[in-house]
Amino acid sequence: MCTDTKLSLSRSFAQLARTAEKSKASIAVSKEPLETPPLEIHTLGDRALRKEARRISKVDDSIRDLAKDMLRSMYTAKGIGLAAPQIGINKQLLVIDLDIETPSSPPLILINPEISNESATVETYEEGCLSIPGVYLNVIRPSEITLSFRDEMGRPKKMKADGLVARCIQHEMDHLNGVLFVDRVSDQKQLQEALQEHGFQTTDVHSLRI
Ligand code: NI
Repeated sequence: MCTDTKLSLSRSFAQLARTAEKSKASIAVSKEPLETPPLEIHTLGDRALRKEARRISKVDDSIRDLAKDMLRSMYTAKGIGLAAPQIGINKQLLVIDLDIETPSSPPLILINPEISNESATVETYEEGCLSIPGVYLNVIRPSEITLSFRDEMGRPKKMKADGLVARCIQHEMDHLNGVLFVDRVSDQKQLQEALQEHGFQTTDVHSLRI
């Protein structure tokens, strides 16, 4: 009995330790820019950016490895967010890091994100995108969102976000639906000028403004 109890206790401790280890596990990669990023980022005009991304049914090492490569590519490009369709992968995976200068601050990995609520209050803010380099334009979006997603360990999570995080999540989630921020720009004159200046075609914009 005593031995049994000890055994089961030690087992449960081992289990606890394993769980703790698991829950601490996150995606940690160096934020230093690489000479050659592991993934190529597609740009406006590329059809890969217009595809709808598929849900990820199993969060395993291949997904975590992909998230790591996406982070390395994002840090190298000095971006704060990257969605899988931008590197030609048709999956609902995105990575965000608003603090790319601090090596120890962990990135946010969102798998199968879904917005359950968005505020009626909107904000205008200038956005840019690694797939449309050089172009920065104002976009109006809800200022607060509530979303559910799976993290890099496959655990279901919920979060409320506002400010730049909310902005960034909405921008990246648009990528999962084949939508780019330029589709949401109201000022058509500024949009045309900025695209032309940076060598992009206005016909590649799928405007959502009516
Ligand atoms: Ni983008």
